[in-house]
Amino acid sequence: MFEGKNSTVIDEEIQGTATIKNSPIASSKKVYLESYGCAMNFSDSEIVASILTQEGYQTIKEPETADLVLINTCSIREKAEQTVRNRLTFYKGIKKRHNKNLIVGILGCMAERLKDQLLEEEKLVDIVAGPDSYRDLPNLISNVESGQKAVNVLLSREETYAEISPVKLGENGVSSFISIMRGCDNMCSFCVVPFTRGRERSRNPETIVREAKELFDNGFREVTLLGQNVDSYRWNITKKGEIKNPDEETVSFAQLMEKVAQVHPDLRVRFSTSHPKDMTDDVLHTIAKYENICNYIHLPVQSGNSDVLKRMNRGYTREWYLTRIEAIRRIIPHCSISTDIISGFCGETDEEHQDTISLIKDVKFDFSYMYKYSERPKTLAERKFDDNVSEDVKSKRLTEIVNLQKEQEKELNRRFIGKTKKVLVEGPSKKNPDEWKGRISENTMVIFKNENFKPGEYIQVKISDISTAILKGEVV
Ligand code: SAH
Ligand code: SF4
Ligand code: F3S
Repeated sequence: MFEGKNSTVIDEEIQGTATIKNSPIASSKKVYLESYGCAMNFSDSEIVASILTQEGYQTIKEPETADLVLINTCSIREKAEQTVRNRLTFYKGIKKRHNKNLIVGILGCMAERLKDQLLEEEKLVDIVAGPDSYRDLPNLISNVESGQKAVNVLLSREETYAEISPVKLGENGVSSFISIMRGCDNMCSFCVVPFTRGRERSRNPETIVREAKELFDNGFREVTLLGQNVDSYRWNITKKGEIKNPDEETVSFAQLMEKVAQVHPDLRVRFSTSHPKDMTDDVLHTIAKYENICNYIHLPVQSGNSDVLKRMNRGYTREWYLTRIEAIRRIIPHCSISTDIISGFCGETDEEHQDTISLIKDVKFDFSYMYKYSERPKTLAERKFDDNVSEDVKSKRLTEIVNLQKEQEKELNRRFIGKTKKVLVEGPSKKNPDEWKGRISENTMVIFKNENFKPGEYIQVKISDISTAILKGEVV
């Protein structure tokens, strides 16, 4: 979904460590935070850092000197969980070599899915804390300090951590995530998220706008509004569309985006993820109206076949999806569109797979995250259908999808050659410090020669070349 933009990702989770520099509190307690999975997890780690900083903890960059290691985990595919299990072996070594009293906590979606089972399976683990119980971490830690193991996996219908100001971890100081809602009520049959993140709830818009303002004042120039299904964002409105409290304002997702866009014309606004069944024309008109709301929509399709979509419980057909694409093209003519695709879902026939291929050809996505179906315990699909497409066939279909997508992506990126585009400067590129990088509104990365630019500055770049997913250009 949000993983690593502008590079083709096949069944791979973001891995990264999250740390802050120069913590204002000099403390003897040191925490090392490590995050996997989607942007929401990375954003949650910043909430955790904020809660622990209040408790006198200092976040550190290397785990060797840590008193506490917290791993924020993902359950979306089996491989994501395996990565964390392997990581625990690494921490066994750290505990043995560096700190016999090291406390190890598992946070996030694996914690929620496996609960106390994790304590039985992984002797190293002291704390298991689900996504809604981070305020309880100080208690959980003190339980462990007094010799017990500690678990809190209660899911909440209200928790949005609304008023907690996240501590920015390892970011570029230019773009930041803002969580606007949590949980998901959709129950797509393949997906574990409703079980690990609980019911959908939206965050108070005032606190969202305040966070956006603070970020802008601190030099940030881009915010991505995060939710499992941002189109379901609603404040003071019931699911049926009725007003809850007549004395308070109501805010839809389109209105929220508008409020954030109005913080400052130099603050770029992005959002993720939209659901094809819920994305309204209102949202599209709002994107078209504001120059600083980026021309980029991530609209996961999952499959190009309506029967597969039905088995996936996605709530739309191929035709409906195509009408949403038409609406985007009509209302925002230069909008980039990306998607998520799953290959080899239960019972997927070769004809059904070919429908996905033809949909990719019809839509021409600017970017796609592509995965092999991975059965998840307790999901609707696990209970109702057979995971009966062989690994071989899943892989073959995935390769076909990836190759087609890559080929089209390169072709599509050619449209930028010769055009002058507004780029938000992020900083030096990884490969060559003389070359700097930034993004265009359509989200594609551009590489250009550094001329004493500062991160957060807007510059005009004339695109001269492309290399797969990245553009190259000269500053004008
Ligand atoms: N809320 C987001 C999805 C979050 S999960 C949305 O609806 O777009 C991100 C992506 O992971 C999904 O879009 C889907 O393509 C993929 N995914 C989810 N469950 C999966 C599974 N069991 N096997 C393979 N891919 C899966
Ligand atoms: Fe999972 Fe579907 Fe919810 Fe996305 S919308 S998080 S795929 S259940
Ligand atoms: Fe993974 Fe949980 Fe995000 S399962 S994708 S970390 S919501």
